[in-house]
Amino acid sequence: MRIGFLQLRPKFGAVKTNVRKALNLLDKVSEATIVIPELFNTGYLFRNEEELASLAEKVPGGYTTSEMKKIAKRKNLNIVFGIAEKVGRKFYNSSVFVSSKGKVEVYRKVHLFDREKLFFTRGQSFKVVTTGEAKLGMMVCFDWIFPEVSRLLMIQGAEVLCHPCNLILPYAHDAIKTRCVENGVFAIMANRIGTERRGTISLTFTGGSQIVNPKGEVLTSAGDRSESLKVVEIDVEEARNKNITPHNNIIADRFPPLYKAITLKGKR
Ligand code: ACM
Repeated sequence: MRIGFLQLRPKFGAVKTNVRKALNLLDKVSEATIVIPELFNTGYLFRNEEELASLAEKVPGGYTTSEMKKIAKRKNLNIVFGIAEKVGRKFYNSSVFVSSKGKVEVYRKVHLFDREKLFFTRGQSFKVVTTGEAKLGMMVCFDWIFPEVSRLLMIQGAEVLCHPCNLILPYAHDAIKTRCVENGVFAIMANRIGTERRGTISLTFTGGSQIVNPKGEVLTSAGDRSESLKVVEIDVEEARNKNITPHNNIIADRFPPLYKAITLKGKR
């Protein structure tokens, strides 16, 4: 199976330009599953809900999803990309899956980061997407800091974590390697680069997109300066064998009767 990522530097508000740039890079690849960063078509730093409302799109049917469906079909790709999704009067920070056959699935980010909480609504469920080659676990950026997310996705069958990001904190890249080891899965972390300045707020995104295997090894990665497309070949069977030693298996050795407190909210 071929998996890859686009690392991009979106320009805030320039949806057509941002989508066109992604399409130009996708045109260079075929027969692969490619992950594209969080909010890649709009940029990240919305000043207020009106601005978000003017840039959010319907899924399916909106401009970005329609363009992605077209190129997925033409190049025989599965594509996972981050987008601001409009549903009635609500907005979600969503990750959309489109297949070469026209299937569309959506995961709405559950763990909203910082000012995202001012405009976006929290998603209410997790999602594993089954393709002909692998089961894909959908997560978005800050979901990385909650080990419950990748664990739950793995328990539900995920073999490859698809992780569109706009990362700011420096720990995520190492943490994702741990998520891969503790769950015996691959991860495709597609991050963005660049600095966004909007009013008095400025954020710099960390790049370093990477593909990690179930041993926590980085199969390919990008720097923090340039836009790029990287694709690697993986053997997804590596994510199906959960044995760690002849006597240990990540799934069989779990002991859920002792884990009940995990489902409690906990004290702040
Ligand atoms: C993030 O969740 N975009 C940091």
